[in-house]
Amino acid sequence: MANIMVVGSYVVDLMSRTPHMPKPGETVLGGPFQMGPGGKGSNQAVAAARQGANVTMVTKVGHDLFGDHAMENFTEESIDTTYVTRHTEEATGTAIITVDDQGENTIVVALGACGKITSTDVQGAEQRLEASDMVLVQLETSMDAIRTTIQLARKHNKPVILNPAPFQQIDDDLLQDVAYITPNETEASLLTGIEVVDESSARKAAKQLIERGVHAVVITLGKQGCFVYDGSDDGTLVKGFPVQAVDTTGAGDAFNGGLATFIAEGMKLAKAVIRANAVAAISVTKTGTAIAMPTMADVEEFLRNTK
Ligand code: RIB
Ligand code: NA
Repeated sequence: MANIMVVGSYVVDLMSRTPHMPKPGETVLGGPFQMGPGGKGSNQAVAAARQGANVTMVTKVGHDLFGDHAMENFTEESIDTTYVTRHTEEATGTAIITVDDQGENTIVVALGACGKITSTDVQGAEQRLEASDMVLVQLETSMDAIRTTIQLARKHNKPVILNPAPFQQIDDDLLQDVAYITPNETEASLLTGIEVVDESSARKAAKQLIERGVHAVVITLGKQGCFVYDGSDDGTLVKGFPVQAVDTTGAGDAFNGGLATFIAEGMKLAKAVIRANAVAAISVTKTGTAIAMPTMADVEEFLRNTK
């Protein structure tokens, strides 16, 4: 079993469907409404756990009802909560999400407690990190926590997957200790200053990131698939699986949680990416984020049926 440590956010997703995205000042009659566990860190942890990984979550929630729900949810997903702490003042984070009829979304995250994960919180989990096969981190918490995570992983020689979402500027000295970076088109563009829209622009951006010290780059290109580059050849475009999207929110999280698990299990990068694509594809056919993550059995069945 792969041991994965996830350092990142937990927020409650408050999602409403809408026939179209409201313009500034506009009120739209939408619905239905759905509430569920979310946050990129937690979603990725759930995706990994459902793919069979042994997951430890490092996050922070509030001393409130949403925080209680978070703890229950982690336990239901068999995610270790030893390093989930509770902030005395900040509320559990929330995300206000709208999803339109095309399955596209907008999200506003109020990080609350999970924005206050400290270096000390991460240091508290050092022993567990030392026993992990893979460390997975996003940019949805304090830069202090992110920095400490990457530095500790380097100290113990553990591979880090950095999912640079939502985008925040990240120092180059940290990139040198990142084994895999997994930006989408927008994040890849912001990281590199190269407008990433297709395979050839993705290749340029990936090459730049390798030059800046990252070991391998996986740029997700939505329906076009993923561009995978480890610096050894010219990189490859791995096609995604065409599915009827119901709700694409959390697709990136499904992908990253799956990818972390499959690489930690020893799969080669290209193969791990194909399987992670399947995890993401299944997740977009269901409404919600964490609750839409497929199990190992779902992925097996999906891959059997798409052959
Ligand atoms: O990636 C999707 C997630 O981003 C949502 O669950 C929402 O909570 C935001 O953090
Ligand atoms: Na979904």
